[in-house]
Amino acid sequence: MRELGLIIGMRGSVERIAAGIAATMAKRPNQRVAPEDRARSALRERRAAYADTDVTFDVDRDATATESAQAIAAWLVAARGVRVDVGGDHPYPVLVRAGLLDQVGTHLGDLGWSGRVAVVSEPAAAARYEARLVRSLELAGFDPVALRLPTGEAAKSVRSVARLWGELAGAGIGRDGGIVALGGGAVGDAAGFAAATYLRGVRVAQVPTTLLGMVDAAIGGKTAIDIPEGKNLAGAFHPPDAVFADAGVLATLPQRQLSSGLAEVVKSAFLADRDAVAHVERALEPVLRGEIGPQVTTVALAAEVKAGIVTLDPRETGLRELLNFGHTMGHAYEAASAYRVTHGEAVAVGLVFASALSETLGLAPRSLRIDLERLLARARLPIRASFSREAWTYLQRDKKARGGKVRWILPRRVGLFSEVTDVDDTALQEAARLVRGRAA
Ligand SMILES: NC(=O)c1ccc[n+]([C@@H]2O[C@H](COP(=O)([O-])OP(=O)(O)OC[C@H]3O[C@@H](n4cnc5c(N)ncnc54)[C@H](O)[C@@H]3O)[C@@H](O)[C@H]2O)c1
Ligand SMILES: [Zn+2]
Repeated sequence: MRELGLIIGMRGSVERIAAGIAATMAKRPNQRVAPEDRARSALRERRAAYADTDVTFDVDRDATATESAQAIAAWLVAARGVRVDVGGDHPYPVLVRAGLLDQVGTHLGDLGWSGRVAVVSEPAAAARYEARLVRSLELAGFDPVALRLPTGEAAKSVRSVARLWGELAGAGIGRDGGIVALGGGAVGDAAGFAAATYLRGVRVAQVPTTLLGMVDAAIGGKTAIDIPEGKNLAGAFHPPDAVFADAGVLATLPQRQLSSGLAEVVKSAFLADRDAVAHVERALEPVLRGEIGPQVTTVALAAEVKAGIVTLDPRETGLRELLNFGHTMGHAYEAASAYRVTHGEAVAVGLVFASALSETLGLAPRSLRIDLERLLARARLPIRASFSREAWTYLQRDKKARGGKVRWILPRRVGLFSEVTDVDDTALQEAARLVRGRAA
């Protein structure tokens, strides 16, 4: 076994092993040993061999063979990681693995980076992960400098980015090095925008530390800052050289933020296919519990969906619109809440609204919305809401900005969507009633 490769051990209680022996013996009635005695003596005789495993899994009393196999497969994937490639004019890899933070320097060296590199972070992510990332860069021969943005949307302001430009110049960042963005989507967007504009563009690598960053914001090359007139109104397409999604950092992410990222994961699964939905269905609770294997496979799945779409439409001229499933009403709801709900919470409500609209227009059966709601609820996301006058006003403004048309990405079934532009008010009100639920 040693010569063949990895040895995976499985550990069960004596009763569990005895039950297995009893089942085998039932097929060979001529053998007469008490299963429990047989289990104990085998464990004794094989003690040394069983100790020589690379990893041992505890098998629950009731675990089926399939469940045990899935746990092992998830562990193997987490240990080895997954690489997803984004294609197009500027191809780049998205690496997903636990422990990747310590390898960023080596990878950037392989990508041709050298010299002075700025690690741009915000206080919460920096306190936990900046030192490890800086160390990894130093070990790979870089000369890193750590710079900070404020936490949350405050990072995405003209003032924050202007200060960052100055600090990049002061630190002597040039075209040989680049910027490593360490943080959630807010840092990724602001540092990415600074990278797109400083010296008319320097290289950027994304090290997302939130689930939302890993499955969505860090992939696709869109960068932006906010202006008083609205969110993400100034920005640039500036794809990274690589995305390093280290699922290990999710261990410190608050549950509400994990749930928020899961909204985009559920969205991606519905855009993909039934297999993806089934995977997410199995993985939701383990991801929330912090199990690293399911976290890696789930990030990889959602990253693959986004990477696939972005590869075909890097500049958002068509297909990429699919990623806005749930976002038309989601954005309105998020803005109307004055950003008190997280992006993912708003998207959850927006996904339910879009499927309710499909239902109302006869494009999809009610069961689609029910399936979606079940997944979102299990991800601990809201599925019921009422839309304030502000939310409808926001939709109207969005309509004006888009040349008089509100575009809805509506599901027909898992993996099949339609873009619908002229939805009448009656249908919108009926969908809103479904999202409000019976109580209201
Ligand atoms: N460019 C894109 O394509 C794209 C896509 C989706 C979202 N976005 C943008 O992303 C932003 C939202 O991103 P977000 O949800 O990651 O929010 P965020 O960046 O504000 O991070 C959320 C919170 O988590 C904290 N945090 C981050 N990593 C942590 C960790 N590992 N442990 C503990 N705390 C941690 C942060 O301090 C912050 O308080 C929005 O500005 C949105 O516009 C961009
Ligand atoms: Zn989103």
